[in-house]
Formats: sequence, structure tokens, C-alpha cells
Amino acid sequence: MAVSYRKSRIKNLGFCRLILIVIFGAVFLLLLLRANTFTDLISRYSVESDDDESFGSNYNYSVSFSKNLKLPRQNELSISLEKRNQMFPRNLDLYPKLAKNHIVIVLYVHNRPQYLRVAVDSLSKVKGISETLLIVSHDGYFDEMNKVVEGIKFCQVKQIFAPFSPHLFPDGFPGVSSSDCRDKDDAVVKKCMGTPDQYGNHRSPKIVSLKHHWWWMMNTVWDGLKETSQHSGHILFMEEDHFIFPNAYQNLQLLVKLKPKKCPDCYAANLAPSDVKSKGEGWESLIAERMGNVGYSFNRTVWRMIHRKAGEFCSFDDYNWDITMWATVYPSFGSPVYSLRGPRTSAVHFGKCGLHQGQSENAACIDNGVFNFDVEETDTVPNIKSDWGLHVYKHQSGYQAGFRGWGGWGDKRDHQLCLDFAKLYWTSKAGVV
Ligand SMILES: *[C@@H]1O[C@H](CO)[C@@H](O)[C@H](O)[C@H]1NC(C)=O
Ligand SMILES: *[C@@H]1O[C@H](CO)[C@@H](O)[C@H](O)[C@H]1NC(C)=O
Repeated sequence: MAVSYRKSRIKNLGFCRLILIVIFGAVFLLLLLRANTFTDLISRYSVESDDDESFGSNYNYSVSFSKNLKLPRQNELSISLEKRNQMFPRNLDLYPKLAKNHIVIVLYVHNRPQYLRVAVDSLSKVKGISETLLIVSHDGYFDEMNKVVEGIKFCQVKQIFAPFSPHLFPDGFPGVSSSDCRDKDDAVVKKCMGTPDQYGNHRSPKIVSLKHHWWWMMNTVWDGLKETSQHSGHILFMEEDHFIFPNAYQNLQLLVKLKPKKCPDCYAANLAPSDVKSKGEGWESLIAERMGNVGYSFNRTVWRMIHRKAGEFCSFDDYNWDITMWATVYPSFGSPVYSLRGPRTSAVHFGKCGLHQGQSENAACIDNGVFNFDVEETDTVPNIKSDWGLHVYKHQSGYQAGFRGWGGWGDKRDHQLCLDFAKLYWTSKAGVV
């Protein structure tokens, strides 16, 4: 009894469902035809075309991948994050408009939530921050990091995730792979995959991820996001272990404004001296020196120059993006690459408190989640004057052309992936890379 009752019930249910589906389908079709939603849907999801120029006529890039790239096969997480990158910024309800001459801020992070909290807290006190867009670029997917970013309420904020981060691939390139060579393995003897660097060492996914992330992030914010691919001003870059002062944004606006007049040879504007331990000279003068790696900003003209050097960037055997830039990319521009800054820093790099062997104490440091650094009164107001002169450091110390690199970047697959990032948003007809 019970069995046949259930059977007929199932039959009835099945029939009802069928009718519902047919009705639904018909209504849906009608709606589609009437409102032209269908064409909308098609155009929304077919932006990957090579010929798509909906993002403006200035540049020949496509929104998604050109077909001639040899990108690694993506897993589900990678695909879902890539889709997520298309989402609108958060807080559009609170800050519906960006100021006309805003400077976009890009914060690129890995997985140090304690540090990120300090960096974000410093941003929350920056004067003028509410007029701009903050982009947080993640290397890997970490809940704790997301929580910190989701708590941001002081400006528009957009999260992006590097879809080819080694941290997203637990069992294959660009992540760890069991068939890969390790350390100083001999590929022939061990029958493993990989090309060693100039010192005989094979790739370490954790280490190469930094340079990959930086390069993907640069390509994506300048050429791949609808929010910024038309941005004509400067973009400021900072990391999860950078603390920026309340006057940073206003100072930067001043520097950007003064740059064409005071330092036509400057490619960039910096918030901090290139010697990260220095708080600045305290002089009454603007300073031009080599490009630093804390709080640096530049415009699209400079990005185009950098992008053209993708070959140099991607093949140089050093896993550090900044040393790669100093030793190969900037020297290839043909003239010294100066950056303009004030005589007093507006950003500091912080680390763990206490001295480590061979390291000197950081200007600012963090101890069990407590951040030790006092912001002085003068760091809360713009402290750059338009009538100051310019002091130029002609002899720039540090890494120069000719340096062969610290290694760690010898694997041909890393070179290829890096080159592919440079082509992600460019069609072949542009012929740039
Ligand atoms: C883009 O491509 C078109 C046609 O191929 C060309 O006419 C145009 O100059 C290109 N624009 C840029 C900025 O390279
Ligand atoms: C971008 O910066 C460079 C270097 O300072 C400058 O020569 C160029 O004119 C700037 N471009 C725009 C569009 O402002």
C-alpha cells in the first residue's frame, strides 16, 4: 500500500513539475523577447572577444584572455575568484562619486592579517581618503584577510584576487607539483620538471608568488579593470606592512601637481625615501632621488613604458619585483628614473619589534598585534610647500644595471606565465608585447 501510494504521488509530483517548467519557460521566453534582455545577457557575457573595444578606443586590450596564451589550467577556486574580480566596489552607497582628480590607491597583500589591520587603520585616518577608490589585491584567498577588508567603511573599496596565484594551486603549476624538481635537483637524474636559476636552484612556488602577484596586479589595475582602465591620473601602491600618515594623500596630490614644473625628469612621486629606514632630511626642499618601493605612485604614461619592458621584467633572474625594476627595467628607459618626494616621510615600512641578526630596527614595529609608532602633529597636515626648490640626489646608490640578480626566477614556466600576464588584456593586433 504504502509503496504504491508513494509511487503515484511521485508520478503526480513529476507531472506538476513538468507543467510548471513549461509555463515558466514560456513566460521567461516572452520576457526575454519583449525586453531585449536576451541581447543584454549575450553582450554582458561575451566580453571576452578579442575585438571587443567597449573599454574605450585609447588602447587595444580585450577584457579577458586572448586565445594564444598558454595559461595554466584553472581550478574552481581560481575561476570563481576571477569572476569575483568583476564585482562592483563596495560602499558605493556611502561614496557614490569619486573626486575628479582622485589618486587611486592599490594595496597589495598576502596573508598577514595582523599587519593588514594596522595598514587599513592607518588608511582610515588619511585625510581625503573618502574621495578615492581603494583596491586591495590579494595573493591567495584567506578568510582573515577578507574580514579585514570587508570591515572597511571609509571609502569605495574593491577586492581583486590573483587568479593564478601559486597559493591557489595545491597540486600543480604555478603551485607546488609533485613532479617538479626541488632545490638543486638534477632534472635528468631525478626525471623531474623545471629549469634551475643561475645558481642551480629550482623554483619555490611560495617565493615566486610575490613577483607574479606584483606583475599581475600592475597589468590588471592599469589595463584590466573597468574601474581603472580609463583612469588618467596617478595610482599609489602600498603593501600590507606599510603604515601611511594622515597627510599622505594630500601630500601626494601636491607632489603630483608640482612634478611637471619642479621636476620634469621625475617619473613618479613617492611618499617615503628610497632608503626605507630614513624618515627624510627635514630640509625645506623637495627631493628627487631614485624610485623607492614604499608608497610609490605614477601615471599611465609610465606604466606603458614599464609594460613595454615585459620581456626584461619576466626573464630577469631575481624573484624580487623591486630589484628587477631597479636592475633591468628602469635602466632600460635610457635616463635616470627619479621620483619626487617631500623632505619628511609620509609612509613607513614596519616589521616585528626587536632586533634580528643582521637587521636594523624598523622605524615602526608591531609586537603581539600592538603597533608601536607615534604620529606627530606635523604628519597630520600637508607639509610640502609649493615655493620650495628641488634637491636632486644624482648618485643613486643601490641596485644598478649590470647586477645579475639574486636568482629564484629561473624556471621557463614562470617566465612564460609572467609574459602571459602582460598580454592578458592586450590583443595581438596591438603588437606591443
Ligand atoms: C588600435 O588598433 C587600431 C586598429 O588595429 C589602430 O588603428 C590603433 O592605432 C590602435 N591604437 C593604439 C592605441 O595602439
Ligand atoms: C605622466 O607622467 C610623466 C612623467 O612624469 C609625464 O611626462 C607625463 O606627461 C604624465 N602623463 C600625463 C597624461 O599626465
